[in-house]
Amino acid sequence: ARTAAVIPAAGRGVRLGPGAPKALRALNGTPMLIHAVRAMAASRAVSLVVVVAPPDGAPEVKNLLDTHALPERTDYLVVPGGETRQASVRLGLDALPDGITTVLVHDAARPLVPVDTVDAVIEAVRDGAVAVVPAVPLADTVKQVEPRGQGEPERVLATPDRAALRAVQTPQGFARDTLVRAHATVTGDVTDDASMVEQLGEPVVVVPGHEEAFKVTRPLDLVLAEAVLARRRA
Ligand code: CTP
Ligand code: MG
Repeated sequence: ARTAAVIPAAGRGVRLGPGAPKALRALNGTPMLIHAVRAMAASRAVSLVVVVAPPDGAPEVKNLLDTHALPERTDYLVVPGGETRQASVRLGLDALPDGITTVLVHDAARPLVPVDTVDAVIEAVRDGAVAVVPAVPLADTVKQVEPRGQGEPERVLATPDRAALRAVQTPQGFARDTLVRAHATVTGDVTDDASMVEQLGEPVVVVPGHEEAFKVTRPLDLVLAEAVLARRRA
């Protein structure tokens, strides 16, 4: 049961503001993508990491992987990404060799996920789940709103029971054949891979996520990520 990690890293990072593609931005001197690759390769179960690079950035990403220290027991591949996260993940899946039976999909934008979370996801797939997501309870109350025109206030439609909600992280883990079938079948906008498996009618199970698996999305998240790294080195 060989396991590969696909890392979509082809996004621009619009919400982070102007600058290099998000995955190439530095966190305490090291590109976010390298932190994310190390987080996957830290698991002894991961034998291959496929990085999905910005569409015109594959040579630069290959160079980054060559010039940063990475575990030698792991193989690395770089492929150019697509217009959407979904397209990028699919291009990563297309590059998987025979013999891989378990696939993790991990956002480059979650560079600090601890190895215990990675291993828990892999273990749940190996125990028979076809799809696994790490998730955490919500701190905020969530409202469903009715969209309004520009400048008009939104109106609240409902308040879902917070106790029944989870914020979902990555790496998400899958039986390879299930994830490939989901990407071949499901169309329409999705923001994670597990939702595509849900649309197939297949079960998705939850394992505990970790607060350090947060997604670097806005400028404040960079501050938090660098503080977490500094604390780890202390
Ligand atoms: N991603 C990708 N290909 C795309 C879009 C996103 O591989 N066409 C990746 C991002 O690089 C990131 C992950 O999907 O690692 C999660 O996406 P998100 O956090 O939304 O990153 P961006 O799309 O880069 O950010 P933004 O939405 O703010 O532009
Ligand atoms: Mg995005």
